[in-house]
Amino acid sequence: MPNEPKTQAKTPRVFSGIQPSGQLTIGNYLGAIRNWVAGQFKSDPIFCVVNQHAITVRIDPNELRRNTLHVAAAYIAAGIDPRHSIVFVQSDVTEHTELTWILNTITYYGELHRMTQFKDKTSKLKQDAISAGLLNYPVLMAADILLYQADQVPVGEDQKQHVELCRDIAIRFNHHFGETFVVPEPVIAKVGKRIMALDDPTRKMAKSSDNPGSYILLTDEPDTIRKKIRKAVTDSGSEVVYDPKHKPALANLLTIYSLFSDEEIPAVQERYVGKGYGAFKTDLAEAVVAGLAPLQARMAELMESAELTSVLTEGADRARVIARKTMDAVNDRVGMNWK
Ligand code: TYM
Repeated sequence: MPNEPKTQAKTPRVFSGIQPSGQLTIGNYLGAIRNWVAGQFKSDPIFCVVNQHAITVRIDPNELRRNTLHVAAAYIAAGIDPRHSIVFVQSDVTEHTELTWILNTITYYGELHRMTQFKDKTSKLKQDAISAGLLNYPVLMAADILLYQADQVPVGEDQKQHVELCRDIAIRFNHHFGETFVVPEPVIAKVGKRIMALDDPTRKMAKSSDNPGSYILLTDEPDTIRKKIRKAVTDSGSEVVYDPKHKPALANLLTIYSLFSDEEIPAVQERYVGKGYGAFKTDLAEAVVAGLAPLQARMAELMESAELTSVLTEGADRARVIARKTMDAVNDRVGMNWK
C-alpha cells in the first residue's frame, strides 16, 4: 500500500559471550568477535565475559581473573564500542544464576545429555569426574540470553545447538507460564563459522587443545604466528585451491587468509595459481600478523589502564537493570513472589 506509513522495525537486541577459560584464538575472533563488531551499530548489543561458564572445568582463580580482563580487552581492542554496546562480566549480575535455577527445573536431563559438546568433553571421563556444572552449562547459557530478551545470538557453528536448546527452553517456559521470553535466533556467519585446527583440519581450533601448534592466539608474537603457519598441515598436491571436501586443510587456510585480508576466497586463490603452498603460507602469515598487530597493541594498552575496570563496572550497572526486569517478571510468573 503506497500511502501507508512504514512501521519502523525494532532494533534487534543482540547478546553473545566468550568463556575466559584460556587465551583467545583467531577462531574466537573470526567466528564471533569480528561479526559482533560488524553488526554492532545495526543492533542493541550486549557482550558478556561469561566467567561462570569457565569454572565448569578446574581453573586456577588467578588465571581466571587474568583471563577475564584479557577477554574484555579483546572485545574493546577489536572494536566493540562500550559507549554503544554493553560490555560486562557475568558474575557481576547475579540474575544469571538466579534464572538458571528456574530454567533448570524445566530442562530435561535427556536434552542436556544429548548435547554434542557435553558428549565430546566427557567421552573420556569417568562419571564421577564429570561435574553437574558441565552438564547444566547450556542452561546457564540459556539464562544469559533470555535475561536480556535477545533477538539474535551471533556465535560460531559449535554453539548453534546450545542456542537451539535455549529456544526450546524459552518456548516451553512461555507455554507453561505465559509469554515471558523473546525466542532468540542463532546468527552464524557463512565464512569463518568453524575455523579448524592447524594440525588437524577435521577438528575445531580450540583454546583448550594440548598442542599450541594447533591454534593461533590473539596474543601470539609475529614469529610464533609465522612458525605455526609454516608448520600447519596441508593436503596432498601443491595447488592453492578452495576445495573443502578434498583439501580441507587448505580450505581452512584460505578462509583465514580471506578474513584477515578482507578479500573474497576466489580472488586470493587466483593470485596463487602456479605458485604452490610455500608462497601462499608466507603471505598468509604476514596477513595474520598485520591483521592482529593493531588489536594486540590496543589490548596491551587496555590491560595496563584503569579504563577496562570502569567500562566493566558501568556495563554491569546497565546490564543489571535489564536483567532485573526480566527476573522480576519470571518470579512473578512462577509464583516466587508470595507477598
Ligand atoms: P566459547 O567461549 O567456546 O567460544 C566463544 C565464541 O567463539 C566461537 N568459536 C569459534 N568460531 C569459529 N571457529 C572456531 N574454531 C571457534 N572456536 C570458538 C564460538 O562459537 C563462540 O561464538 N558457551 C559459549 C559461551 C557463551 C555464550 C553465551 C555464547 C555462554 N553464554 C550466550 C552466546 C550467548 C562458549 O563456550 O563459547
